[in-house]
Amino acid sequence: MANSKEHKERKEEFTTSSGIPVKRVYDPSFAPTADTYREKLGDPGMYPFTRGVQPTMYRGRLWTMRQYAGFGDAKQTNARFRYLLAQGQTGLSTAFDLPTQIGYDCDHPFARGEVGKVGVSISSLEDMETLFDQIPLDQVSTSMTINAPAAVLLAMYIVVGEKQGVPMEKLSGTIQNDILKEYVARGTYIYPPEASMRLITDIFAFCAKHVPNFNTISISGYHMREAGSTAVQEIAFTLANARAYVDAALSAGLKIDDFAPRLSFFFNAHNHFFEEIAKFRAARRIWAKIMREDYHAQNPKSWQLRFHTQTGGSTLTAQQPDNNIVRVTVQALAAVLGGTQSLHTNSRDEALALPTEESARIALRTQQILAYESGVADTVDPLGGSYYVEALTDEIERQVLVYMDGIQKMGGAVAAVEKGYMQREIQAAAYETQLKIERKEDLVVGVNAFTIESEKEPTLHKIDPHLEVEAQERIRAVRAKRDAKFVQQTLDELRQAANGTDNLMPHMIQAVRAYATLGEICDVLRDVFGEYTPEHF
Ligand code: 3HC
Repeated sequence: MANSKEHKERKEEFTTSSGIPVKRVYDPSFAPTADTYREKLGDPGMYPFTRGVQPTMYRGRLWTMRQYAGFGDAKQTNARFRYLLAQGQTGLSTAFDLPTQIGYDCDHPFARGEVGKVGVSISSLEDMETLFDQIPLDQVSTSMTINAPAAVLLAMYIVVGEKQGVPMEKLSGTIQNDILKEYVARGTYIYPPEASMRLITDIFAFCAKHVPNFNTISISGYHMREAGSTAVQEIAFTLANARAYVDAALSAGLKIDDFAPRLSFFFNAHNHFFEEIAKFRAARRIWAKIMREDYHAQNPKSWQLRFHTQTGGSTLTAQQPDNNIVRVTVQALAAVLGGTQSLHTNSRDEALALPTEESARIALRTQQILAYESGVADTVDPLGGSYYVEALTDEIERQVLVYMDGIQKMGGAVAAVEKGYMQREIQAAAYETQLKIERKEDLVVGVNAFTIESEKEPTLHKIDPHLEVEAQERIRAVRAKRDAKFVQQTLDELRQAANGTDNLMPHMIQAVRAYATLGEICDVLRDVFGEYTPEHF
């Protein structure tokens, strides 16, 4: 039947991004039965959480609308934060510029040309105070996309809270703090793996005791997907990295249920709608089993994979940018049907520049229309039981476990990263994808199909030309007015602790209170730990 003329199909083979063959039709043999339902799906909010981490999911509380924002100086980003909150966003997400992410002050020679470009420039506590001016930290949860210097920015956030009269126990938010994916895909690392893992587990230990409502890590697959991984690789490499963080925390003497409930995750919502939904469901089930069966965590919160999603930046096209509103809508819908806890929707112009206020507003409105008009938030896991989605969930789980088993056999994620294994796998997948686009096997509307001749240039975000000089004047003024002796004393104490085994957070907080700058603090650790240049660049 398949080969007869009237049943000729558009393509020889239909596959997902991970190369999973897509059948013409799925039948009831793929759906869980009454006997397998509990073990494979479980009710929402119940182990293994395939259907979602909360019993009521969005009927109880919508996902957090958490738009990634940050550019220029702290004042400009503070204005964008307050604009987005006024437009109805329900969580903050901070983008830092590259000098901040790599631990350089805005007046460091390496910062030239990058100050305030891809995120907000933060060099001192004063910048952080400006960033959260008129934003009460006991009423908002803030994500900070910061990795190598995560401890410093967390220390600054804690001290800003103190100055607002908000004790650290009342602070909520997330620090990305995921260095392994930086080595693999994103690149904002400073220190060698061992020192980086110590900084990460120091944050776990400190927050478990003193900042209990802060998610201490956002173990990210997003950037590996952006680098070209498949959906299966995205989950496999992220969960392998997660195991490495759990192992590091256990080796540092922490108890699994003391830190695991505050591990969080961050994934991409990419093309191939049903694969993305199945990917999220499979990830929850795999992680629940790892935490309960392998690590014997007792607290159900330790078994829950809670995640943030960002729609796929790499799918945005510079051509016909308005088309991106549709791409983002489909991807955001996949994230919601996949049970995300928090969501960022990309703006239509982000393939060209940082989003304008209008584009950022449309991106937020996209979430609000899904939440309040589409009805998709009104029942839990609406695609649960779908023959196709359950078949994909099972197959993705199977393939992820094969990858993870291979990484375990290599000695775990740190060893795999040092061997360049994940990097090579991602590069190979990225190459295949690009070939399919160039051969027009995969169409990208407006790029290799349905193109138009001339397009009018959209209005784009403009970078403030005076920004760098003004930032440098500010940081020089901070250095001039602070108590230099106290700064030096706190930096010496940090150095001593870094040479020992003390938790570094209290020393970071003290240095930040003295207005030691981000660069000064990171330089002390550069002296002690050295800097990392992996051969698998
Ligand atoms: N019933 C009962 N309680 C519920 C509920 C329900 N239906 N839904 C939620 N809740 C509760 C939760 O349990 C939680 O309470 P708790 O804190 O006491 O546990 C509270 O309501 C808040 O809910 P969530 O924790 O689900 O939502 P949050 O938004 O607070 O947290 C997260 C979500 C994923 C756990 C968190 O880690 C987070 O916000 N992550 C965001 C990360 C982020 O924004 N990253 C951006 C990176 S940008 C980047 O890197 C890309 C760039 O490089 C290009």
